[in-house]
Amino acid sequence: MREQWGSRWGFIFAVAGSAVGLGNIWKFPYICGMNGGGAFVLLYLVCVVLVGFPLLLAELAMGRAAQSSTVGAFLLKNKSRTTFSDLIGSLLVIIGVILLFLNHYGYGTAVTVAGIVFLVFGWKTVGFISGVIIPIIITGYYGVIGGWTLLYMGKSFLRQLNFGDPNGAAAVMEPIAAASGDMMIPVLGCTVLFMSLCALVCFSGVRKGIERWSKVLMPLLFVLLIVLIVRGLTLPGAENGLKFFLSPDFSKLSANSVIAAMGHSFFSLSLGMGIVLTYGSYLGKKENIVNSAVSVLVLDTMAAMMAGLAIFPAVFAMGFKETSGPVLIYEVLPASFNHIPGGWLWNGMFFMMIAIAAFTSEMSLFEPPVRVFVDEFKMKRRSAVALVAVICIALGVVCAFSMSDWSRFSGLQNFLIKVWGEDLSPSLFLVLDSFACNWLLPLCGFILSLYVGWGWGVRRAAKELRKGTDSNIVNGNLWLLFAGFKDNSGDEDRKISLFSLAVLWGFFVRFITPVVVFIAFLNAVGAVKF
Ligand code: PHE
Repeated sequence: MREQWGSRWGFIFAVAGSAVGLGNIWKFPYICGMNGGGAFVLLYLVCVVLVGFPLLLAELAMGRAAQSSTVGAFLLKNKSRTTFSDLIGSLLVIIGVILLFLNHYGYGTAVTVAGIVFLVFGWKTVGFISGVIIPIIITGYYGVIGGWTLLYMGKSFLRQLNFGDPNGAAAVMEPIAAASGDMMIPVLGCTVLFMSLCALVCFSGVRKGIERWSKVLMPLLFVLLIVLIVRGLTLPGAENGLKFFLSPDFSKLSANSVIAAMGHSFFSLSLGMGIVLTYGSYLGKKENIVNSAVSVLVLDTMAAMMAGLAIFPAVFAMGFKETSGPVLIYEVLPASFNHIPGGWLWNGMFFMMIAIAAFTSEMSLFEPPVRVFVDEFKMKRRSAVALVAVICIALGVVCAFSMSDWSRFSGLQNFLIKVWGEDLSPSLFLVLDSFACNWLLPLCGFILSLYVGWGWGVRRAAKELRKGTDSNIVNGNLWLLFAGFKDNSGDEDRKISLFSLAVLWGFFVRFITPVVVFIAFLNAVGAVKF
C-alpha cells in the first residue's frame, strides 16, 4: 500500500518545511526592504492569494486524486495525449522554429525539442520535467548553499567567524564561494554532507523520514527565529531596522515590485516542481486539503516576516547598511552580531536556523524524482533514493566548483556558448538557477494550472478538494459556466453556491493564475520589460 502521512500536522510541517527556505530568509526580507517595506508585504499577500493559493490547491488536489507521482498525475484523464496537449506541442514547435529563424539557436532548439517531446508523450512530459528535471537541477545548487550554512554554523560555534566588518567577512566568504585553496575540501565536504543527510531522511521513508524530521525541525526553526527576534529588537537603535523593513512606502512600488512579489510567491511555496503534488499524493481522503493549505500559507509568510524581524533590527542597530542577497546573510549580519556580546552564539544560532530551513527544503526536492522512479519505473524506493542522491550530489559538486565563475569549466562554457549561440551567465550556477527558476518553473506552473482548469477539469478537482470538507457547492449560470462548473447535475447532494470558494477558485485557476504566471514568465526571461 502507498504510504500516508501519520498526522495532519506532520503533513503541514512537511509542506511548510519545503516552503520555508532560503527564499524566505534571505530573499524576502531583502526584496521587501527595497520595495517599500510594508507596502510590499501587502502586495505579496495579494500575489499569494491570486497565484500561490490557487496553485497550491491545484497541486494538492491533483496529487491526492492521482495517488501517484507527478508523471502519473498528468494521466488523471486516462490518456496522456489529448487534443489540447497536441495543440500545446504544435505551438511550441512553431515558436521554436520562429526562434531558430531569428537566430536564437539555443532557445529555438530547446523549444522545438520540447514541442516534439510534448507531441509524442503528451502531458506526461510536464510531469517528468516538473517532477524529475527541475528538482534535480535545483538540489544541485541549493545543496551548495546548504553546505555553506553548515560550514558557517560550524565556524560560528568554533568561534572562527570573528570579523568585525563586512570587508573582513568578504575575505572569509570569497574562498568559500570559489571553493578554492584551503576552503576547497571543507566546502565540498559540507555540500556532500548536507545533501547526503537529506538523502538519508528521504531513504527512511515518508512517515519515518520526512514527516518525523519536519515535525522536529520546523518547531525548532520557529523557536530559533523568536530568540533571534527578541535579541535584535532589544538592541538600542533597532527601530531603524524595523522602519526600513516595515514602514509602508507605496511610492516605491513599481511594476517590477509586482513581478518580484509574484515570482517570489511561486518560488517560496515550492510550486511548479512537483513537491506539493507528490506530498499531496500521500494524503488520505479524509484530510481537509483547504485548511491544511491555509496553514502552510500562514506558516510560510510568517517565517518570511519573522526572518526580516530577526535580521534588520540587528543590522541597523550595529550601524550597518542593508545589502542584497548572500552578502546580507553571510557578511553584513554576522559582522553585526559580532558587535554584540556573545556574537558567536548568535551567529551560530542564526546559521543553525538557516541550515534547518535549507535542509527541510532540500529534502523535499528528493521526493518527487524518487516517486517518479518508484511509480513509473517500478524501482524499489531505496534504490531510487540512492540513484537520485548520486545524480544530485554529483551535480552539487560541480556546482560548488562554479558558484563564483566558470573558470574551472571554461571548456563547457565555450561549448555551451557555441551551441546556445548567445552569451551565458557568469557561472554555471547562475545558468542552472535561471534555467530552472525563470524558465521551467513558471512554464510548468502555467501548464499545470491549464491542466487543472481546462484539461482534468475544475469540477473534478473541486470534488477532490471537497472531500474532507463540508463546504457547499452548486448549479448554474454564466458565472458558474466560466468557472467550470456547468454540468454538475447529478453531482451528489451538495449544491454549489454562487459565491462559494470553489467557484472562485475555479475562476482563478482557469483565468487569473495562468495569465499572471505567464506574464511573470515573460518578464523573467526578458521577453517583456516593465
Ligand atoms: N520554497 C523554498 C524557499 O523559499 C525554495 C525551494 C525551492 C525549496 C525549490 C525547495 C525547492 O526557499
